[in-house]
Amino acid sequence: MNNYILSHIDEEGELLARLNRDAHVNLLRPRMLSGHLQGRILKMFCRMLCPERILEIGTYTGYATLCMAEALSDTGLIHTIEIDDELEDFILKYFNLSEHKEKIKLHIGDALSIIPELDETFDLVFIDADKRLYSKYYDLIFDKVRPGGLIIADNTLWDGKVLEEPHPTDKQTIGIQQFNDKIANDKRIEKVIIPLRDGLTLIWKRLLPQEHQL
Ligand SMILES: C[S@@+](CC[C@H](N)C(=O)[O-])C[C@H]1O[C@@H](n2cnc3c(N)ncnc32)[C@H](O)[C@@H]1O
Repeated sequence: MNNYILSHIDEEGELLARLNRDAHVNLLRPRMLSGHLQGRILKMFCRMLCPERILEIGTYTGYATLCMAEALSDTGLIHTIEIDDELEDFILKYFNLSEHKEKIKLHIGDALSIIPELDETFDLVFIDADKRLYSKYYDLIFDKVRPGGLIIADNTLWDGKVLEEPHPTDKQTIGIQQFNDKIANDKRIEKVIIPLRDGLTLIWKRLLPQEHQL
């Protein structure tokens, strides 16, 4: 089915295919990158939303960054944050090869300290970093997302582990479960979980407090 889908959607393009192969040969945990299908979906969200400012938490190779940049206008900008400085050369190699490089600002460091320093209002935020910290990222970005803006969180089904009682040392599963519960109970937003890959949660920030919402 996966092959069928991939042969009937837009191609990922030569640069992203090259990045994908390079990551599989030279990096640890290449499965972390969004990949062909999710990358095209992220691009499609950008096409539909026409965002001017995007924040990505967790760059890894820059695969998803480049997908979103494809659909950004020339005045748009993506801030993407990666804590692992050993990835910087890999990321910049592909950003510099992209015709969209001017629309991307890479921050190397901890998102928890970088986000408060970003003086931006975001139309779209993609949360895809440390699973233990999803709730913290959410709290940090919420006021920086415009009403009507979208937050996308990846890996929210966490390989199905969200259904199980986690071992007390499994902080990642606990972090994702806490995040999902927090989102489920947050009245300031509308939300759906798409069972795509490892689970993709779409969170729409309401325009008005719920009591005023039609
Ligand atoms: C799943 S990968 C990101 C994949 C990428 N968004 C994509 O879709 O292609 C998660 C990345 O988040 C980074 N990360 C983890 N904790 C972080 C933090 N506190 N701040 C910034 N980056 C972090 C990891 O080093 C890793 O490269």
